[in-house]
Amino acid sequence: MMQEQIAQSILDNNEKLIELVLELKKQRNAVILVHNYQRPEMYRIADYIGDSLGLSIKAAETDADVILFCGVKFMAETAKILSPKKTVLLPTLDAGCSLADMAATERLRDVKEKYPDAAVVSYVNTNADIKAMSDICCTSANAVEIVNSLPNKKVLFLPDKNLGRYVQQHTDKEIILWDGYCFVHDKLNANILMEYKQRYPDAKVIAHPECKEELLKLSDHICGTGGMAKFAKSDGSKNFIIVTECGMTEKLREDVPEKNFLSFCNICPYMKSTTLPLVVRSLTTNMHEISLPKQIIVNARKAIDRMLEFSKNAG
Ligand code: 13P
Ligand code: SF4
Repeated sequence: MMQEQIAQSILDNNEKLIELVLELKKQRNAVILVHNYQRPEMYRIADYIGDSLGLSIKAAETDADVILFCGVKFMAETAKILSPKKTVLLPTLDAGCSLADMAATERLRDVKEKYPDAAVVSYVNTNADIKAMSDICCTSANAVEIVNSLPNKKVLFLPDKNLGRYVQQHTDKEIILWDGYCFVHDKLNANILMEYKQRYPDAKVIAHPECKEELLKLSDHICGTGGMAKFAKSDGSKNFIIVTECGMTEKLREDVPEKNFLSFCNICPYMKSTTLPLVVRSLTTNMHEISLPKQIIVNARKAIDRMLEFSKNAG
């Protein structure tokens, strides 16, 4: 009984906070962009929910005065790069990304010197200074197509080695891998997935390409978070095992209620660090406003714009 009361009071409190955020959002002419991996209550305050690519496109298009990001820092930085005159807010500095932090500029400078004829393709999961040293960005949704569209025979792909290896399997280009990984995906274990598959033999496996190769080999479909609902809707199966961050399963249950989704997942603590009270604080005090050096914005913008231009032309 006690537990039920606590759960109910949390829900009531959330309702009040959601109302407050919606009011503040109006007052500030703000747009709230929410990544698929966020806590489910964050979906309720969103103007747009989606994957990294969709969020970048929305950040480039909006005419709001303020962009508040419920995601992680590299996403908010991308919004700032695309809309440097707008106020871009990240409710907590705990929303980093250890994968993004695995690429440092000094190292990239050295590797670029070693491979002067290689195009530098950086996953959007990088910090702004790395984007500023890159030829083009990509997301998990368009990485293969972006790499294939380049004139160079050699591509330095960073920072995720698992996604890079996946790209290598879908291109004739020589991919130089960076030794980075997302711990949320990389530590998912293929042997345990095998047990899941044996227990649920009629379920199709959908996995994020940041997972290890041995796990991707066991999957029926590999895609970024934006492609998962699309596949689940169009595929004939009723049951799916979702191999990625745990929040994705919640989102799929909302988006495709007629199908069943089982989680094979880990939680990303960075993605889960944004909460409703922190959003309220951010909208009332501008905590934490993203600011970037001008030259980083100019250079990083070229790499992001090339990606967005490619996506527009690819339809
Ligand atoms: P998507 O680009 O598929 O949305 O993934 C973002 C991310 O952080 C994956 O770990
Ligand atoms: Fe970064 Fe991995 Fe978390 Fe995505 S899931 S934000 S790549 S740590």
